[in-house]
Amino acid sequence: MNPRLTVDGRPRHLLDLEHLPAARLQALLHRAQMFAGGGQAPAALSGVAVCTLFFEPSTRTRLSFQLAAQRLGAHILNFDASTSSATKGETDLDTFRTIQAMGVRGFVVRHRIDGAVAALAEAALPGVAVLNAGDGRSHHPTQGLLDMLTLRQAKGEDFSKLKVVIVGDVKHSRVARSDLHALRALGCGEIRVCGPAALLPDANTLRGCVVTQDFDAAMDGVDAAMMLRLQRERMAEGLVTSLEDYHRDFGLTAARLRRAAPDAIVMHPGPMNRGIEIADDVADGGQSRVLAQVANGVAVRMAVLESLLGE
Ligand code: NCD
Repeated sequence: MNPRLTVDGRPRHLLDLEHLPAARLQALLHRAQMFAGGGQAPAALSGVAVCTLFFEPSTRTRLSFQLAAQRLGAHILNFDASTSSATKGETDLDTFRTIQAMGVRGFVVRHRIDGAVAALAEAALPGVAVLNAGDGRSHHPTQGLLDMLTLRQAKGEDFSKLKVVIVGDVKHSRVARSDLHALRALGCGEIRVCGPAALLPDANTLRGCVVTQDFDAAMDGVDAAMMLRLQRERMAEGLVTSLEDYHRDFGLTAARLRRAAPDAIVMHPGPMNRGIEIADDVADGGQSRVLAQVANGVAVRMAVLESLLGE
C-alpha cells in the first residue's frame, strides 16, 4: 500500500506539490476560491485536534493555519520548539509521537531541514495527516497553492498565455520550488527565473524556465512578478556582495515595474525586506497583491485541511 494514500486512494498528507495530481490541485483551488469568496465554512473538522508543530519561526503561515482550522471547527494546539521540551533534548520524532498519543489528528509542520517533515509523516498513525508548512529549501505546498489562487483571481483560470517571473534568491527558496511545480502543472505559458548566478538553483529545478540575470529584460511584458526574500539564514557567507548592489540589480522598483504589462501584479510571500528585494512604493502600490496572498492563505489552508481531515 502506498503510505502517502488513504485506504480509499486519497492523498493522506500534503508534503509537496510534485505528488499532487493536477486535477486535485485544481479542485483545491476551486474549493479555496469558494472560501475566499466568503463561502460558508462547514464544521468539517468539528472535534478534530490539529497541532501546529513549528521548529522554525513563522508569522503568516502558522497564524493562517490556526485560523483556517478554527473556521472549520477544529481544536487547535500550538507547539513552539523554543519553549518546549525540545530545549531539554527531546528528539523531533519523540515530540511528534508524544503529541500524536494525545489524539491529535492533524500536524502542520515546519522544519529547517529538507525532508524532515516527510520523515515525521512516516511515523503517522492511521487517520493522522501531516501538512508541510515549509521544510528547508525544498517544499512549501500551501504557499504554492495560495500563490496560484492569487494569480487566478487576477488573471483568470487559463495560465497558457501568462508570463510569470520569479526573482531573487531562488536557490534557497522552498516557495520558489513549490511555485515552479504549480506553474508547470497549471500550464503557465512562460516562466522566467531571474537572480544573481550564485542564487540560482540546479538545472533540474529550472527545467522549462527562461533563466536570466538581466532583471530589466526579465520584467518586459510580464503579467506577474513573484519577488523573493534574500534568505540569509539559509545562505553560506559571501553569496551577495552588498545589499545596496543587490537592490540596484534585483530590487523591484517602480521604474522596473513599468516594463511589465500595464495590469501586471506584484507578489511576495513575505516576510518582505523593504528596500532590498522590493521598494516601498511597489510593496504598497496598486499592483501589489501581497495582502491578497495573505488572505488567500487562510482560504487555501481551509481547503487543504478539509480535504485531508474532513469527513
Ligand atoms: C516563506 C517561508 O518561510 O518559506 N515565508 C512564508 O511562509 N510566507 C518565505 C521566506 O522565508 O522568505
